Amino acid sequence: MSLIKFYNFHFRYKGNDEYALKKINLEIESNRFILLAGETGSGKTSLIRCMNGLIPQFYAGYYKGYAEISGKNTTETPISELSTEVGIVFQNPENQLIAMNVEHEIAFGLENLGIPREEIKEKIKEVVAITEIESIIDKAPFEISGGEQQRVAIASILVLEPRVIVLDEPTANLDPLFARKILNLLKKIQVEKKMTVIISEHRMDLILPLVDDIILMKEGEIIAHGVKDEVINSNTFENLNINKPKIYSIFNELKNRNQFQHDIPVSIKDAVSSLKMIK
Ligand SMILES: Nc1ncnc2c1ncn2[C@@H]1O[C@H](COP(=O)(O)OP(=O)(O)OP(=O)(O)O)[C@@H](O)[C@H]1O
Ligand SMILES: [Mg+2]
Repeated sequence: MSLIKFYNFHFRYKGNDEYALKKINLEIESNRFILLAGETGSGKTSLIRCMNGLIPQFYAGYYKGYAEISGKNTTETPISELSTEVGIVFQNPENQLIAMNVEHEIAFGLENLGIPREEIKEKIKEVVAITEIESIIDKAPFEISGGEQQRVAIASILVLEPRVIVLDEPTANLDPLFARKILNLLKKIQVEKKMTVIISEHRMDLILPLVDDIILMKEGEIIAHGVKDEVINSNTFENLNINKPKIYSIFNELKNRNQFQHDIPVSIKDAVSSLKMIK
């Protein structure tokens, strides 16, 4: 069964003439690592807001069509209930961190669900180890770095054991080294927990080697959704105005000059093997 399903879904924010989301048909399965990419303003954040019912329940506007999460209609099921199926880390996670210290922050969601204290302790221990934040557990959210805040935000969602975690530009405020660490950590969690992770991310060079599938958006529509190699080698990807990785640009140029006829590599390791195939 698909975890997330959209049937011909449309959404227009109140006060806007244009629809931010148009004709969205999408099915997302379990155990996938998915990149959501598209030009600025193409609707990525809006699509993410649909995935726990914030659209249309919280954001005022008009919708058409239908969307469901684990079989639950997103227009009627309370956001709190949908949030246990799909956990979302929005941009600037410091706005999401509200508790006195990191431990309370992570416990917050579980306490709201009425989970017994001993069980909460066990679950916290596990996610703190996975996200490697043992050393900051007693600190206040404002005392820790941007990268640590990202980890805490991820731990707070992970502890609720959702089937899907969605992250909107999780590395936007991080340096490349931390960005790589966070993305690798998410990949590790996704594989270990066999969950689905969806990430909107501009750092293509860091994320492409990790992903299984890619969703491309343009002007409120999904213009491609498929396995990585298929999407990357398509004209749709070539024509999209997004920051492409250097490796992609080099091999795509070689392909256009008929000097390379294979799938375009996305990691340095694959690029090295691909170099041997150049005519
Ligand atoms: N809260 C809002 N109220 C009104 N319009 C909005 C709101 N949020 C987004 N929009 C509009 O919806 C459209 C899609 O925006 P969205 O933020 O989903 O794009 P995006 O792909 O996430 O862009 P970016 O890459 O810049 O984050 C834009 O035209 C934007 O102005
Ligand atoms: Mg956005």
